[in-house]
Amino acid sequence: MQKYNVAVVGASGAVGEELFRVLEEVAFPIANLLPLASARSVGEEIECQGKVYKIEELTEEVFQNREIDIAFFSAGGSISEKYAKYAVESGAVVIDNTSHFRMVEDVPLVVPEVNPEDIEKWEERGIIANPNCSTIQMVQLLKPLHDLYGIKRVDVSTYQAVSGAGKAGMEELVMQMQSFFNFTLDDAKVEAFAHQIALNVIPHIDVPQANGYTKEEMKMVNETNKIMHSDFAVSATCVRVPVLRSHSESITITFDEGVNVDVDEARKVLEAFENVTVIDDIANNKYPMPIISTDTDETYVGRIRKDLYADNILHIWGVADQVRVGAATNAVRIAQKWIQLEEEA
Ligand code: A2P
Repeated sequence: MQKYNVAVVGASGAVGEELFRVLEEVAFPIANLLPLASARSVGEEIECQGKVYKIEELTEEVFQNREIDIAFFSAGGSISEKYAKYAVESGAVVIDNTSHFRMVEDVPLVVPEVNPEDIEKWEERGIIANPNCSTIQMVQLLKPLHDLYGIKRVDVSTYQAVSGAGKAGMEELVMQMQSFFNFTLDDAKVEAFAHQIALNVIPHIDVPQANGYTKEEMKMVNETNKIMHSDFAVSATCVRVPVLRSHSESITITFDEGVNVDVDEARKVLEAFENVTVIDDIANNKYPMPIISTDTDETYVGRIRKDLYADNILHIWGVADQVRVGAATNAVRIAQKWIQLEEEA
């Protein structure tokens, strides 16, 4: 089997560290690994597939003569904006986990269970974009339902973990909880979020937009239709909650006029969909929760129920690990499909 040289930009971050774990778990065919981060992390050791690698500094030249085939970028949009081109110029395909290239027309935006065929367009820019974490887990649930009934509109409210703000976000929640038990919460550091996140809920993720929505909410609106090649209405309310990992979503789906939703039929297509697990037995206290999804590669769905008033509306509850399904695992699944395409070509 052919092996590939892999670079990971953001190797010391929350998603970077998870990438190494996923690459190891799926026995990704790695020839050589190049972990990259800022000067702060140079020399730190990364272990993957039984080998130890040292983090190097991300520079404009670092990709030269390294024969990198696949470069995962997970160090923030401004880093991708500046450095992705150097990886592409050196001959690598960039799988970008930031929002920077997602809505660029000739950059495919891919969730492998939903639109794997778009990976073929990678050559136009040398870049494949990994969607927003909340979008990935939502489209995995929307796709089988859209194929079944045809979606007219989606209304989603998210309950997003602090892992979405990287290691700094996770540390801030832990520190604030510790301060709470030390009776010093009032003095705790508030940096990663606009307000204290411990014992709180913040209806504000990413930058406010002129239309009254946030950038995170508009990512869900725009990315969903790009991935699904659809044009249905989407409205999102994105909320940060004091959960360490795994985002939850309450999703209301309005299907085309005349559709009469059959809950059993909807459950069946969700059960049959790749990497989706249905847990839907409220009588026995069984439904998806972050403590179930964390550290897994599945997107969980439950609380599947028909609207009380309209036959064409379904309500569902979806949960997935943001760092894995919403980032590292999706990126690795893209890379695996890309390899499959390259080897078939
Ligand atoms: P570093 O740890 O050296 O700062 P997270 O999402 O958990 O906050 O992680 C962000 C990742 O992006 C880290 O690996 C971080 O490296 C990396 N990063 C941040 N700024 C830069 C930069 N200017 N150049 C390279 N990597 C960076």
